[in-house]
Amino acid sequence: MKYVHSPVLLDYILSDLVQETDSYYLDCTLGEGGHTEAILNRYQNIKACGLDRDSSVLQIANERLAVFGERFSSFNINFNEAGQLKESGLQFDCALIDLGISVFHYKSSGRGFTFLKDEPLDMRLDSEGTSVEHIINTYSEKELKDIFYKYAEERFTPNIVKRIMQSRIEKPITSSLELATIIENAIPHKFRSRNIHPATKVFQALRIVANNELDNITKGIPQVLSLLKKGGRLGVITFHSIEDRIVKKIFAELNKECLCPPKLPICSCGKVREVKIIGKSIIPTETEIENNPPSRSARLRIVEKL
Ligand SMILES: C[S@@+](CC[C@H](N)C(=O)[O-])C[C@H]1O[C@@H](n2cnc3c(N)ncnc32)[C@H](O)[C@@H]1O
Repeated sequence: MKYVHSPVLLDYILSDLVQETDSYYLDCTLGEGGHTEAILNRYQNIKACGLDRDSSVLQIANERLAVFGERFSSFNINFNEAGQLKESGLQFDCALIDLGISVFHYKSSGRGFTFLKDEPLDMRLDSEGTSVEHIINTYSEKELKDIFYKYAEERFTPNIVKRIMQSRIEKPITSSLELATIIENAIPHKFRSRNIHPATKVFQALRIVANNELDNITKGIPQVLSLLKKGGRLGVITFHSIEDRIVKKIFAELNKECLCPPKLPICSCGKVREVKIIGKSIIPTETEIENNPPSRSARLRIVEKL
């Protein structure tokens, strides 16, 4: 089996997230298992547990990591429900949330994540999601504009939405290529990038909404932290400035000792500092981007539980 996803920022994960003394690693977004495989190979004393909400990619990882026997286990769950692992008494030394989707999803899932092939317009990672076909064909003009402005920061939103509304009156939009063509035709030639397909940002925005990805970050981080031992590290890799802003804000709040207004003479909020921020955010080197273009927008932030 050939794996199509290369784990991003792997050197930093192996050196700054996982520590020599760690004994149990939690991979909250296992994908094809690239990070986990590298960690299990590097640190012979570590065990790993992987989560993925997508059962098809989880199956690939399970087959790949079966060679590690009892050192590896997995659960087909959303990391926003990771807290439930506490019921089984599980506790971890380090955890990684590598957001978004895997190259597997673009290349092999057949669920319309790509505009390079003609596939059904779905993009759901599990049955909790809302299909993009439903979003595109039933959401109001205002709802679609909000999605494209907010999550794609797409300046040609009015024209794209106008064309979607016109097109769906004639017949529902059901394929990825159909939608990509509508978007492409709505963007004037001189504003199209040579390297990046004009539908890239809108497709990413629709995927984020289809899978409720931003809410998962907000709900999931506290749950994952609750599973870490004191001194355990959590790393989050984002691929979008909106995701990164959310992670940065959550980490900053958890890092604060007090949330009272500055003028209050004594603290009355009862807040305790929960994490320490480890270093600055990390982005891939030019060489990594050259070797693995999907890493180009990655950013890693690490905190340590206090
Ligand atoms: C970027 S890929 C992970 C790649 C992996 N680190 C590797 O090296 O192969 C992200 C994975 O997270 C999964 N995923 C996305 N959101 C999730 C969530 N809320 N809970 C669990 N898994 C999620 C996706 O299905 C996808 O397989």
